[in-house]
Amino acid sequence: MPDVASRINELREEIRKHDYRYYVLDDPLISDAEYDAMMAELIRLEKEHPEFITADSPTQRIGGAVAEKFETVTHRYLLLSLDNTTSLEGLREFDRRVSRLTSNVSYVAELKIDGVSIALVYENGILVSAATRGDGRVGEDVTANVRTIKSIPLKLNRQISRLEVRGEIYMPKKEFLRLNQEKEEKGEKVFANPRNAAAGSLRQLDPAVTAKRALAGFVYDILYIEGASVDSHIQALEFLRDQGLPVNSEFRFCPDIDAVYEYSQEYYRKRHELSYEIDGIVVKLDSLAARQKLGATAKSPRWAVAYKFPAEEKETRLLDVEINVGRTGVIVPTALLESVTLAGTTVSRASMHNFDLVKEKDIRIGDTVLIHKAGDIIPEIIGPVVEKRTGQERVIAPPEKCPACGSRVVRFKGEVAYRCENINCPARLKESLIFYASREAMDINGLGPALIDQMVKKKFVSKIDDLYFLEEEKIAGLERMGSKSASNLIAAIEASKSRPLYRLITALGIRHIGARTARILTEYFHDIDDFYRVKADDLTRIPEIGPKMAESIMRFFAEPHNIEMIERLKAAGVNTKEVPKGTKEQILREKTFVITGTLKSMTRAEAREKIERLGGKVTESVSKKTDYVVRGEKPGSKYDKAVQLGINILDEDDFLEMIGS
Ligand code: IVH
Repeated sequence: MPDVASRINELREEIRKHDYRYYVLDDPLISDAEYDAMMAELIRLEKEHPEFITADSPTQRIGGAVAEKFETVTHRYLLLSLDNTTSLEGLREFDRRVSRLTSNVSYVAELKIDGVSIALVYENGILVSAATRGDGRVGEDVTANVRTIKSIPLKLNRQISRLEVRGEIYMPKKEFLRLNQEKEEKGEKVFANPRNAAAGSLRQLDPAVTAKRALAGFVYDILYIEGASVDSHIQALEFLRDQGLPVNSEFRFCPDIDAVYEYSQEYYRKRHELSYEIDGIVVKLDSLAARQKLGATAKSPRWAVAYKFPAEEKETRLLDVEINVGRTGVIVPTALLESVTLAGTTVSRASMHNFDLVKEKDIRIGDTVLIHKAGDIIPEIIGPVVEKRTGQERVIAPPEKCPACGSRVVRFKGEVAYRCENINCPARLKESLIFYASREAMDINGLGPALIDQMVKKKFVSKIDDLYFLEEEKIAGLERMGSKSASNLIAAIEASKSRPLYRLITALGIRHIGARTARILTEYFHDIDDFYRVKADDLTRIPEIGPKMAESIMRFFAEPHNIEMIERLKAAGVNTKEVPKGTKEQILREKTFVITGTLKSMTRAEAREKIERLGGKVTESVSKKTDYVVRGEKPGSKYDKAVQLGINILDEDDFLEMIGS
């Protein structure tokens, strides 16, 4: 199959090239869609010809299994640490020491990336190992995780027999912000800085978790090389770059220490513009022969030093605390501060993330507090300046009632967040509605975030059940709507009244209860009323329902606002009962279906629902276990596979007959 093999190779080379342009140079040549198309073709070819799959293929970044613990790796070369200084005098002192030992003095200055030190090993151009620094001698094997980092190539441009490099895995500032926001919303502890976030993300036993965090890497040192040679650090960096490795482009050749100092001042000013956090610069002797001569102490090389920037901290006063309810119901305390300029911007507010943190740091209203910016972006209180207390300060306590709707605030076991559990809380309403209408929940076609936004702003809905009393004319008058789309929407809302019970339970957005769990629940509880007085034991007796889920269900139904809403939904005609499981209704029991192509008489979601109502199951891919493949117009590769496997194929009419429509 030479054609397929060469096409696969061609695609891999192209994808590698574009990964480098996108993830390292930040300068893509093609659109995301073009890239996705290449990747999709490669995935398809590899699926059809698994014999051609190799570990260095860009499709194989997430392949590692979940590990029980990390294996240890003894580094072949000690990963030394760096001496550091925080003053110009310290830099000059380093220069004097170097000059006493060698006459070959010129430097390379680099940024000191605030991340996690890593050692990478490439054999014949293929990444075979990635290990953390550990104590410098023994580190942890994080190969499976590093393979998920797109800026680290799985294959080099040349097949050098052996290359061991050192670098830094870091989390870009933007990703740090996103991740902490997500953690705050989920009621989890936030990371203190991008370095901790990078370390935490790299030390995940499941590589799929690491893959979801947009980590990146830079390499800055050759530990060992076989099959090529370099004489200077500048050459080394250029060599690494030519291999497709991510080398930070801000490095600079500095003929003397004054140039190094100038570099440090320049980047001290520019550091906020960078997309990653740095905590200083690193100065390295350029000549490798001179480095050899200088050697190292037990801890660090004599040929390099880190010049660390002073931490940016300021004192200000905590005037008050504002309590906000996030879009998912998490209650977040925000500090209102006396305005100060910090790291280039005026700061007057700072998220305190959660009340545990406030307690841990013992921050009080009226305190003089020390603030900084986590990850160079998020203003944060480091802690109170206790000596400046007057005795007038007030302790900050979590609220008992939601500031937005007055519901009782609850806290789940093992979480730091306090939450409002009222699904109709004005702070949560938009999010609740988006989820309620979503495909996996009540599947209200046409009711998306933009429309919901308008309806909430215009106060057409102030609670979920208002959806069932919307006036068509009013909807028709909204932006990008008209009489036709308004009537379609009303029809879709009307149709949602007869959804099966599990969809309604899913739509309530109860924490930890997704569609799958909701379905399991309705096998045991056939009426929503059954949940009103349910006990934890009744729930945990059900296989697959754990204590966390049980707690969540009980808390949801303990909130009176939620019960009132369900009662109003009932009154509006929304189905709250499970269809009794008679023999007739269960004609498709245990049968597995795959749908391919477009059906004329219904959407796929509707077909799925019909099958499920009759006891059947719909899966995405065809296997020997599939009982029927429903073939619509323009069927895809699933159809070919069904033919290959000899699975029963139904056209749309057969299918309609089978389900009795
Ligand atoms: S060179 C033997 N260069 O800083 C010299 N280190 O405080 C090896 N770091 O453990 C280190 N950016 O993790 C070097 N451009 C850079 C760096 C850098 C960040 C880290 C590295 C090291 C730590 C020392």
